Amino acid sequence: MKIRHKIVSLLIPRLLRETAAWAKSFADGDFSRRISLGAREEMEELADSLNSMSHQIQLRMEEFIADKSRLEAVFLSMFDGVMVIDGRGAIVLMNQTLRKFLQVDTEVTGKKPLEVIRNIDIQELAERVLTTRSRLESREITLLQPEERVLLVHATPVLREGAIDGAVLVFHDITELRRLEKVRRDFVANVSHELRTPVSTIQGYTETLLEGALDDKEHAREFLRIIHDDAGRLTKLINDLLDLSRIESGKMKLALEECSLETVIDRVLAGMNKEAGKNSITLKKDIPRRLAKVRIDEAAIAQVLFNLVENAIKYNNAGGSVTVGARETPRSVEVSVADTGIGIPQEDLPRIFERFYRVDKARSRDLGGTGLGLAIVKHILQAHSGEVSVESRFNSGSTFRFTLPKVV
Ligand SMILES: Nc1ncnc2c1ncn2[C@@H]1O[C@H](COP(=O)(O)OP(=O)(O)O)[C@@H](O)[C@H]1O
Ligand SMILES: [Mg+2]
Repeated sequence: MKIRHKIVSLLIPRLLRETAAWAKSFADGDFSRRISLGAREEMEELADSLNSMSHQIQLRMEEFIADKSRLEAVFLSMFDGVMVIDGRGAIVLMNQTLRKFLQVDTEVTGKKPLEVIRNIDIQELAERVLTTRSRLESREITLLQPEERVLLVHATPVLREGAIDGAVLVFHDITELRRLEKVRRDFVANVSHELRTPVSTIQGYTETLLEGALDDKEHAREFLRIIHDDAGRLTKLINDLLDLSRIESGKMKLALEECSLETVIDRVLAGMNKEAGKNSITLKKDIPRRLAKVRIDEAAIAQVLFNLVENAIKYNNAGGSVTVGARETPRSVEVSVADTGIGIPQEDLPRIFERFYRVDKARSRDLGGTGLGLAIVKHILQAHSGEVSVESRFNSGSTFRFTLPKVV
């Protein structure tokens, strides 16, 4: 009994050293080290439970790190901007998206929002949510630098045990939404304006006729012709608007089929011959003998060609020409409509595919234009996953090009 006691007491310093070394590596974050305390049963039991404890801690730690990095990944890659502030209003976190929105590239932790973002609205919102303890505050803010951007900011307080511990501000970019709303508003204003002009002409001339001009045979005829023309203009405008809204709303179902482009081109050119002849304009075709077939909605692409050739004739000079060409590229067929006409000034080029945009409003209207032809072209080609571009020299001609998917 005594001897055994002696042996144990001799062993104790070694066991303690072993345990201390294990505890130290544990404290340093190495959870993988296992402890062995020798063969004695009660010592082995202790070692086992220490080992099992460190194993459990290691697992929890790994889970925690995985959770944390998952959270960080979500936070960093979020499409919305996020800022977290503490109870005193100092920034704790700001994600990459928000840094990009606000053009912030300095350290932000510990600073007040106003110190890093020159925007009083954001600062006020942050203060409001911390002081009023309201559940949610929202505000729309407009940034002017580096480009105009509209952000919808939602601020929510973070509560801990009933007390305000900070706030989370989420910044949602609504620039595109606001832009589209404006496009829609402008569109409605434009349509009303375009409709009003012919309608008031019709009204004016019918009144004149009713008030007695009907008996003046010569004038009556002239007035009726004007009324007839403006009624035609209205019909054209309404048809173009309907076409455009059908394509845009995605209601127009494309009937995609393998077609020979040349057949479509021939048909359109044949239909335009008379119109071209009136202005002494020659229609030409420049197409390789063998051209790959394309997968298109024939009627829609015929309309694209019609609109482009019509423009090429209308905005041409007497005696000029219009050439419809086609060539193959590795994945598509590129079609071009080139004219020798009046050309388009450089500054107007980026806008001519917009609805109702016209370089010369009066000229377009005199020629029976609605200002919607190119917008329809653009949308039909988008529906075909094609693209349209234009090159032009003022006073010497324009070339419109578009691509169509080739059948391989
Ligand atoms: N081939 C062209 N040459 C010169 N200008 C053109 C040509 N095609 C289009 N444009 C310009 O683009 C504008 C928009 O064309 P479009 O949408 O077809 O409307 P519209 O022909 O009814 O005016 C025209 O008013 C004209 O100013
Ligand atoms: Mg046109």
